[in-house]
Amino acid sequence: MKFGYFDDSKREYVITSPRTPYPWINYLGTQGFFSLISNTAGGYCFYKDARLRRITRYRYNNVPIDMGGRYFYINDNGCIWNPGWSPVKTELDSYECRHGMGYTVITGSKNGLRACATFFVPQNYDGEVQQLVLTNESSAAKTFSLFSFAEWCLWDAQDDCTNFQRNFSTGRVEIKDSTIYHKTEYRDRRNHFAFYTVNDKIDGYDTDRDSFIGLYNGFNDPQAVVAGKANNSFADGWSPIASHYKKITLAPGESKTLVFILGYVEMPAHKKFEADGKTINKEKALAMIDKYNTPEKVAAGLAELKSAWDSLLGILNVNTPDDKVDRMVNIWNQYQCMVTFNLSRSASYFESGIGRGMGFRDSNQDILGFVHQIPDRARERLIDLAATQLPDGGCYHQYQPLTKKGNSDIGGDFSDDPLWMILSVASYIKETGDWSILDENVPYDNDESKAKPMLDHLNASFYHIVNNLGPHGLPLAMRADWNDCINLSCFSDTPGESFQTYTNPKFKAEGGYSKVAESVMVATLFTYVGPNFVGILEHKGLKDEAAKAQAEIDKMKANIMASAWDGDWFLRAYDANGEKMGSKECEEGQIFIEPQGFAIMSDVGKDQGADLRTLKAIDERLNTKFGLVLNNPAFTKYYIQYGEISTYPGGYKENAGIFTHNNAWIICAAAYAGQGDQAFKYYSEIAPAFTEETSDIHKTEPYVYGQMIGGKDAGADIGMQGDHFGQGKNSWLTGTAAWNMVAISQYILGIKPDFDGLSVDPSIPSAWDGFKATRKFRGGVYNITIKNPSHVCKGVKSMTVDGKAVEGNVVPVMGAGEHEVEIVLG
Ligand code: BGC
Ligand code: NOJ
Repeated sequence: MKFGYFDDSKREYVITSPRTPYPWINYLGTQGFFSLISNTAGGYCFYKDARLRRITRYRYNNVPIDMGGRYFYINDNGCIWNPGWSPVKTELDSYECRHGMGYTVITGSKNGLRACATFFVPQNYDGEVQQLVLTNESSAAKTFSLFSFAEWCLWDAQDDCTNFQRNFSTGRVEIKDSTIYHKTEYRDRRNHFAFYTVNDKIDGYDTDRDSFIGLYNGFNDPQAVVAGKANNSFADGWSPIASHYKKITLAPGESKTLVFILGYVEMPAHKKFEADGKTINKEKALAMIDKYNTPEKVAAGLAELKSAWDSLLGILNVNTPDDKVDRMVNIWNQYQCMVTFNLSRSASYFESGIGRGMGFRDSNQDILGFVHQIPDRARERLIDLAATQLPDGGCYHQYQPLTKKGNSDIGGDFSDDPLWMILSVASYIKETGDWSILDENVPYDNDESKAKPMLDHLNASFYHIVNNLGPHGLPLAMRADWNDCINLSCFSDTPGESFQTYTNPKFKAEGGYSKVAESVMVATLFTYVGPNFVGILEHKGLKDEAAKAQAEIDKMKANIMASAWDGDWFLRAYDANGEKMGSKECEEGQIFIEPQGFAIMSDVGKDQGADLRTLKAIDERLNTKFGLVLNNPAFTKYYIQYGEISTYPGGYKENAGIFTHNNAWIICAAAYAGQGDQAFKYYSEIAPAFTEETSDIHKTEPYVYGQMIGGKDAGADIGMQGDHFGQGKNSWLTGTAAWNMVAISQYILGIKPDFDGLSVDPSIPSAWDGFKATRKFRGGVYNITIKNPSHVCKGVKSMTVDGKAVEGNVVPVMGAGEHEVEIVLG
C-alpha cells in the first residue's frame, strides 16, 4: 500500500495522506542552519550542532507521535485546524505534502479556506523561511484567526530536557514590532539569539507557553487558539515560545501571503547590545529579515535553491531501462548522501541529536557517496576528521561539529576506524585529481604542534592495523569493528555498562581490549582498502614504501586463507577465548555478512573459488525478499563473549536484521564477480523506490534508505515470526546512503572515478539492452552510452572515446568540453 507518489519531474515525493505509517520527514538546509520537518510540519531546527545549538524544542518518542514543530493554527469560526492536519487533527477537505530538494510544501484546505505553507532554508542563510498563502475558495467572505507557533529550546538540547531546576528560571524574550526574539542566556555567556518574525502587522502574540497552550491542554487544543485570541504574554523563565496572532478577512477568491522567518544570529561580543546594555542589537537580524520579507524575495530564494540542486544533481545523471533506478540515482540517493554528509548520525527521527556527534567511520564513509557533489566540502571534512586522529593512527570514534574535538566519553579503539580514512581520502583524489591534499598539514589529536602531512595520517592508519595483529596474524578486534555490537573484549554482565566503552578489568592491563580477539572483517577491509594506499604511494614515487605496504596486504590475504576461510565463506572473528565466530562449527551465528564482500572484492582465495562459493552461501543463507540478513542463524541467547549483538532479539538490528548498509557490500561484490543479475536482485530488494508499494509494511519513508529492516527471524522467539519482517527503522542517517550510491553507480552501472581516469565497467541485469549516463568529471562532461547486444552482465568488449578506440575500460581525463564515450559489452 502506498501513501503518495513520486513526482520525478519536480524531484518531489508527494504524500497524499497525513496518516503515514510513521512520520515521513525531510531536511531543510545544507550549510549551517538545519531543520527537520515531517509531513505534518513536526520537527525542529538547530544551528550546526543538534546538541549544543538547538533552536526549537522537540520531544522524542512522544504520545501521540511527532508532537511539536512549526505550526499554523487557523480558527475559522470555531473550526480549528492546521494545514498539515496535525496537531489538531481536524479532518481536512484536502491534504498534500510535497517533500522536495531542501524544501517542503504542505497544503490543506477546510471549509473553503486553503492554506499552503512552503518551508525552506535559503542558500547561505541561517534561518527557515515559511511562506503561508491563504486563499478563500468559497463564495462568501471569510474572517478567521491565524496563529503561528514555535517553541524555543534553551540551546543545549541535552540540558534542555534534563536540567529543569535551572532552565525554568532562565528563559528570556524580547518583542519588537512583529518579531519575537529568544535571548535566553544572551546577557551572560552567549553571543547568539534567535527570532521568529512575520512580514505584516500582528494583532497580538504569545511568548509564554503556558499562557498560549494552557498547563492542562496540548498542542492539539491551545487555549489561545480555542479562545480565538492571543494573550500578549511575556515569557519570564518557564518555557518561552513564539506565536503571532492575526485576524484576517478574505473576500471570495482573495489570497493573502504572509512570510514568516525563524532565524539564528551570532553577534560579536562588543556589538551585542544597544546603548542601554540590555536591548538586543538587531542590526543583523533586521538585515536577515529584509532578505526574505516579501513573496518576490521568497520566490528568488526558492529559485536559487532549486538551481543549486540542479547543478548538484547534474553531475551524475543516468537513463536506464528502469525508472526506479533513475529515480534513486538521479534524485533521492544523492539527496540522502548530502543529508548524511551534513549530519552524520546526529539528528533524525531516530537519532535524538544529543546522543552522538560526527562519527569518524560514519563520516568517512559518507564521503564516498557525496564527494562528487561538493568536493571542497569533502576536503574540509577529511581534514577535520584527520585532525581528531591520534599520532599512532587510532582515532576518536566521534567528535562534536561545533568544537571539532574528539568526544572523550566515547574514546577510540574501534578497530576499523583508521581504514575508512584511507578509503575516503583516496575517493577524494580519484574524484578530483587533487593530490595536494596529501601535503596538507593536519594536526593529530587537534594539537597544532603535532601536525603532519595528510599522507602521514594515511600511513599511520595503515600501520595501525599492521601493528595490532593477533595470534592468527589478523587485526585485533578491539572494542568493536564496523559492527558496533560485536564487542569481543567487553564481557559485560551488569546493566548500564556501555558495550563500546566499558573496559573489563580482565583486559585493563592489556590496554583495555583482548589481545586474542581478532576481526576477520577488518582483515578483509584491510585487503580491500590497502591497494588504495599502495596506489597513492606509487603515485608519489615512493616505490619502496609501496612495495612494503603491498607485502603487508599479501601477507594478510595469506593469513585470512590460512585461518579465516571456513570452507564456504569467511569467518567473522576469533573471540577472546580464541574460538571461531561465524563458522559452521558454531551453534548460532554461523555466517555473517560483513567480511564476505570485501574478501571477494580483494580476490582473497579467488584461485580456489572462494568468491563464488561465498556468494552462493550468502544467497542461500542470508537472502530474503526484503534484503540480506546480517547473520544466520540469529542468536537466541546472550553470548557474553560477543557483546551487544546477542542482546537484540533475533531479526532486529545487528542480530540478523537486514542491515542495509552491508547489503551494499554484497551488491558490490556480486557485481564485481560478474553476477549483475544477482547484484541487481539484492539492490532492488532494499532500494526505497522499489519498496514503495509495500509502505504499509516498510513504515519508513519510501524515498530514503533506513539503517535496518526487520529480518526473517523477527518475532521468532515469541511466536510472531513474519509480523515484523520487512519493517524499516532508523531512516535517513545511515551509511547505507553512501554505500548504495557506490553500489548502484560504481559497481552495477560501473562508472567509477579512478586515479587516472573514469573507469567504466558495468555489471548489469542481462536483460538490459544498455543504458546512458552523463558524468561530469574533472572539468569535462562525459556522455556515456552502454550497449549490451549480447545480453551479458559484465565485460567491456570495446570502447571509443570521441570516436577513437581506447584499450581497456578507463576513460582518460579529456579536459573541458563534452566527450562521447561508447561502450559495447560482450
Ligand atoms: C547500536 C548501533 C550503533 C551504536 C552507536 C549501538 O547500540 O546498536 O547500531 O551504531 O550503538 O554507538
Ligand atoms: C550504526 C553506526 O552508525 C555505524 O557506525 C555502524 O557501523 C553500524 N551501526 C553497525 O553497527
